[in-house]
Amino acid sequence: MRADRRRLLAGTGLAGLALAAGLPGCALSAGPGGAGPGSAGPAQVAPATPGAGAPQPPPQALEEVPYVQTPDVIVDAMLDLAEVKRGDILLDLGSGDGRVVIRAATRFQVPGLGVEIDPRLVELSRDRARQAGVSALARFETQDLFETDLSKATVITLYLLPDVNLALRPRLLALAPGTRIVSHDWDMADWLPDRSLVLPAPGKPVGLRKESQMHRWTVPAMIGGIWLGRVEGSPEAELEIRIVQQFQRIGLHWRSSADTGRGRSMLASADTRLAGTQARFRLEGTQGLQAATFTARGERLEGTVQTAAGERRWWARRVR
Ligand SMILES: C[S@@+](CC[C@H](N)C(=O)[O-])C[C@H]1O[C@@H](n2cnc3c(N)ncnc32)[C@H](O)[C@@H]1O
Repeated sequence: MRADRRRLLAGTGLAGLALAAGLPGCALSAGPGGAGPGSAGPAQVAPATPGAGAPQPPPQALEEVPYVQTPDVIVDAMLDLAEVKRGDILLDLGSGDGRVVIRAATRFQVPGLGVEIDPRLVELSRDRARQAGVSALARFETQDLFETDLSKATVITLYLLPDVNLALRPRLLALAPGTRIVSHDWDMADWLPDRSLVLPAPGKPVGLRKESQMHRWTVPAMIGGIWLGRVEGSPEAELEIRIVQQFQRIGLHWRSSADTGRGRSMLASADTRLAGTQARFRLEGTQGLQAATFTARGERLEGTVQTAAGERRWWARRVR
């Protein structure tokens, strides 16, 4: 697994950049337009894999991502974009000097873990947490982020590189629906963010344009398939919903016998976005526009729909 990842990174030249990175506190030595964090936006995302049959250079580096600090103003903006609040558990993957976890602990009193491959940075982070009086909340471990258990976190922060984000993506998508992810500068290719933001970052150690991009995703419930259920009423109506899903975007085809008279079905469709487990949408069908909602609870969808007779509850189970 690790060898595969290193080959992939070596193939895109990023591992070489990691080698060029300096000691803690030093900015990476990529020149203008170089591919270090912050030097370019998502438009320059490199391909995830080398082309078929391309020669595979040998692994070159242990650390895929050089150490570059996120400016404090951007740390705060990332925590705001993630909507960090009491009750959250934060995980910073590649935590550098610990600033994201420490700031979340001082600002919101949330527990956090920073995992960092460089033990010197882990020691520095622990010192900084002690100085800030939050060492009970802000913990740091010397660990490979690819071998870290992500499942406890409700918020994950990243300042990595495009290929590393992409290599992490399947594991992020498998997390509990509703988990928030915020990445400094780099996106996740065709998993489009829920929100993006650009802010001036005057103290940024890399990049010609002193600004930072931030992207936020909410892990969506996986609800693609065919669902059968009922709309409450007298009598209850039968319901069939077909859902196609691409990340948080869903296309929904709704067929029910509600409100349509004997033996006829109401057909409607909607395009909408899932916010974790929840969606609001408007069915566009024979009854005109009808507002509807649902919450996904495992293999069950539960929601409401506005019918001619008023708001009705509905529920459905996935059959395929
Ligand atoms: C761009 S810095 C970000 C530091 C910090 N999160 C911040 O925003 O200021 C990326 C960090 O990831 C660490 N890193 C690189 N590869 C890693 C890996 N496989 N596992 C854990 N940390 C890694 C680097 O040592 C570096 O400190």
